[in-house]
Amino acid sequence: MPQHLAIIMDGNGRWAQSRGLSRKDGHKRGAEVLRTITQYCAQNVCTQFLTLYAFSTENWNRPTIEITFLMHLLEDYLESETQTYLQNNIRFQTIGDLSKFSQRLNDKIAQLKRVSENGTRLTQILALNYGSRDEIVRAANKLACAQIPVTQDSLNNALDTAQFPNVDMLIRTGGEQRLSNFLLWQSHYAELFFSDTLWPDFTTYELQQLLKSFEQRTRRFGGL
Ligand code: IPE
Ligand code: IPE
Ligand code: MG
Repeated sequence: MPQHLAIIMDGNGRWAQSRGLSRKDGHKRGAEVLRTITQYCAQNVCTQFLTLYAFSTENWNRPTIEITFLMHLLEDYLESETQTYLQNNIRFQTIGDLSKFSQRLNDKIAQLKRVSENGTRLTQILALNYGSRDEIVRAANKLACAQIPVTQDSLNNALDTAQFPNVDMLIRTGGEQRLSNFLLWQSHYAELFFSDTLWPDFTTYELQQLLKSFEQRTRRFGGL
């Protein structure tokens, strides 16, 4: 089983458009799938760390109306799902630059981190205003300010993911085969899986199949 599973949840908009719905409906359905998959991982102990790409540094390029909707959806999600985190013993964490978000959203994020901090079954990490390049530049600046020499360890420890292990398995739904600035440093030896399923259609069954396929892979890390 992967210790750290990362997922690029892509395809909400296309899912909605193919049904004549608005992109908002796709994101709403996507949030439900986020809950289902997180719960599954906690209940079936399929991984200890689950990182999900929810909003990238490039997603600010979308129309304001969609960005505003996503921010409200996230606020509502963090509040209404608090019980899901507590009941399933899930610790909530984030990566990404939260300073660009409203105080209200920051308060909700901090609150959920606080109340869920003793969760031991699964650490769910939402990537919010996250981009690998931004993260690496912020980390390099931290080291420069503290006059710490750059090594693989010091840089790793200055990243948002300092407390989390490298990614073992990375899944992207939605048919695109690219990383879109997600966990580039941390996925250096991750096993990659690309699924054509649009995120709102992604199921625990498909996750199970992908986990089986992960077990079949031979990881050599450059050795023999
Ligand atoms: C992923 O779905 C969710 C976010 C990026 C917030 P998209 O919104 O990218 O959906 P598509 O790719 O347009 O279908
Ligand atoms: C990646 O999806 C970001 C998230 C899932 C949050 P995008 O839809 O933003 O990626 P591109 O633009 O297709 O690369
Ligand atoms: Mg997309």
